[in-house]
Amino acid sequence: MAKALYPGTFDPITLGHIDIIERALHLFDEVTIAIATSESKKPVFTLEERIDHVEKIFKGNDKVKAIGFSGLVVDLAKEEDSNILIRGLRAVSDFEYEFQLANMNRAMSPDLESVFLTPKAKFSFLSSTLVREIASMGGEISSFVDPVIEKALKERFK
Ligand code: COA
Repeated sequence: MAKALYPGTFDPITLGHIDIIERALHLFDEVTIAIATSESKKPVFTLEERIDHVEKIFKGNDKVKAIGFSGLVVDLAKEEDSNILIRGLRAVSDFEYEFQLANMNRAMSPDLESVFLTPKAKFSFLSSTLVREIASMGGEISSFVDPVIEKALKERFK
């Protein structure tokens, strides 16, 4: 059974992330969304809230799981018995950082493969930071996030 891990901060998960997850589900039997604490990014949503968002969005889909983690992604992959890391590439500007991450992860864990997927073009400009910023200023975010996130952001910034 091919189990893939999709690590990230997901503060919050956007339709761009969901697009990547749906693509990964065509390739792998199970996708675990691995939500990093990412304390240095000072997330707006707690780790528990971010896990809860993913669980609500993928409720009823037993091929998608959400877990939190705070250590190295290579250690998590061993614990989860997975050797596939999914990452999304939105534009050329993502490449350099992703190339660095993938090679550092490979140096630490040679059997771990990074698989890069590209979201639909209409999501290539999306980021969690921009979505948070628009929501915090009362802007419309329904075409960028699931209704679960729209509601959570509206409550957070009301
Ligand atoms: N749609 C929308 N946005 C997307 C996206 C997509 N398909 N793909 C990436 N993004 C955005 C995210 O929203 C995020 O935006 P933000 O910076 O405005 O919040 C940005 O791209 C990058 O985020 P993400 O993909 O979540 O990466 P990250 O930098 O937050 O997380 C980890 C990177 C958690 C995977 C990495 O730091 C990690 O592995 N940490 C664990 C510790 C470790 O192992 N360190 C050693 C690594 S070699």
